[in-house]
Amino acid sequence: MQPTEQNREQWGSKLGFILAAAGSAVGLGNIWAFPYVVGSNGGAAFIVVYLLCVAIIGLPVLLAEILLGRTAQRNPVGTFKALSNSKGWHVVGGMGVVAGFVILSFYAVVAGWALGYIFEAIRGVFFDFQTPQDAINHFNSLTGDPVWILGMLLFFMILTMVIVVSGVQKGIEKGSKIMMPLLFILLIGVMIRGVTLEGSSAGLSFLFNPDWSKISGTTVLVALGQAFFTLSLGMGAMMTYGSYMSKKDNVVTSTFQIVTIDTSIALIAGTAIFTAVFAIGLNPSEGVGLIFHTLPIVFSKMTGGYIIAVVFFTLLFIAALTSAISLMEVVTAYFVDEKKWKRKKAVYLLGSLAILAGVPSALSFNWLSEFLIFGMNFFDLMFYITFNIMLPLGGFLIAIFVAWVWGLDKAVVELKKGAEAIFENTPWQISLWKIFLKYFSSVLIFLVLLNSLGLLDPLINLFF
Ligand code: PFF
Repeated sequence: MQPTEQNREQWGSKLGFILAAAGSAVGLGNIWAFPYVVGSNGGAAFIVVYLLCVAIIGLPVLLAEILLGRTAQRNPVGTFKALSNSKGWHVVGGMGVVAGFVILSFYAVVAGWALGYIFEAIRGVFFDFQTPQDAINHFNSLTGDPVWILGMLLFFMILTMVIVVSGVQKGIEKGSKIMMPLLFILLIGVMIRGVTLEGSSAGLSFLFNPDWSKISGTTVLVALGQAFFTLSLGMGAMMTYGSYMSKKDNVVTSTFQIVTIDTSIALIAGTAIFTAVFAIGLNPSEGVGLIFHTLPIVFSKMTGGYIIAVVFFTLLFIAALTSAISLMEVVTAYFVDEKKWKRKKAVYLLGSLAILAGVPSALSFNWLSEFLIFGMNFFDLMFYITFNIMLPLGGFLIAIFVAWVWGLDKAVVELKKGAEAIFENTPWQISLWKIFLKYFSSVLIFLVLLNSLGLLDPLINLFF
């Protein structure tokens, strides 16, 4: 049946929404990116800055995004159309839909590696490695093989499509309700193994003993970018998920819960990984390769490493899958709401197009590795355009829209629905949200954007 305004699907329960939204937030950003960003930026001091960024910018913008979606009960384009009087704003929603499609195309490539590494772990290949270089060579030979990398991309995308095509309740919600608790249990298992290794305390002190000299302006911007990426902000994913929420549910507490889950999982993943990396005596600042280069060798050297390796890559894959379905849902919701397509047609057609769009990203690691645009291969270019430009730009415009265009007065009327108790008991929370969104979020996100475009340093030099 084609959804109309009256019978558009909604989440079956509050918990279903929280787990689906947390599923979107918890992804490669938490388990792949967070540990290496922490590792390359000095550890604990970076984490403190990151937590501040999550609280001051991530949380207010996430609340704004969910609220926009819940108010309009529409995809991002429809949401801006419904809530603004002027014509231009729906372009922001359109940019989100495009970003969702593009991110999905290359996110699925890395997610495919996670999937492929489950099979590598099961085959026990990590135990053949003698030196860290062996692990790197193995990674390079897998990603250098177009058949492997394209096969995994295809496999991963088919799984994503199968879930999204089943709908909001029967696909996304049901999948998240099974996968998120599983992910949590698996991650706790890996963490317990990490902290019980001899020598793990060095990893804990790297993570939790701040060395303030490591903080610079760039650290703050990296932390802000990471906070944004990990909470799936700036492209309407949370807006779309919010649009399936009932007006009886509490947006404020839901937002807090999502942020808490996302942040805890990043910290637990960091703990699991660094305790093991330090215990085995490897380098924490390995960068992007930390998970695929360093961890296999770590697993090969620890007791119980076989099972931990299988568990770890399984949880990485689950995290990536629940994020990919939210990316796919943004694009799907647009075509279902605005173009009146059937869900099936939207998912299969757009999913197939996303696979095609992912091909040059996948081939950037082999056949197209020499093909550079602005000095970057295709994968890096897509990554750069979306995460460094489109997401901050989207987040900036969303903050401006809610704070200054739609207006906080109207926003607060909507926010109150389902959250009456908070307005009554702790109204300061709402006041704080208004101040952060109005004055801090937009300015700080704008700085991130300027920095990504390489314009921040010249401006600073001009004025100081
Ligand atoms: N939050 C995801 C992660 O941490 O991996 C990435 C992401 C998913 C970003 C969905 C944006 C999005 F819409």
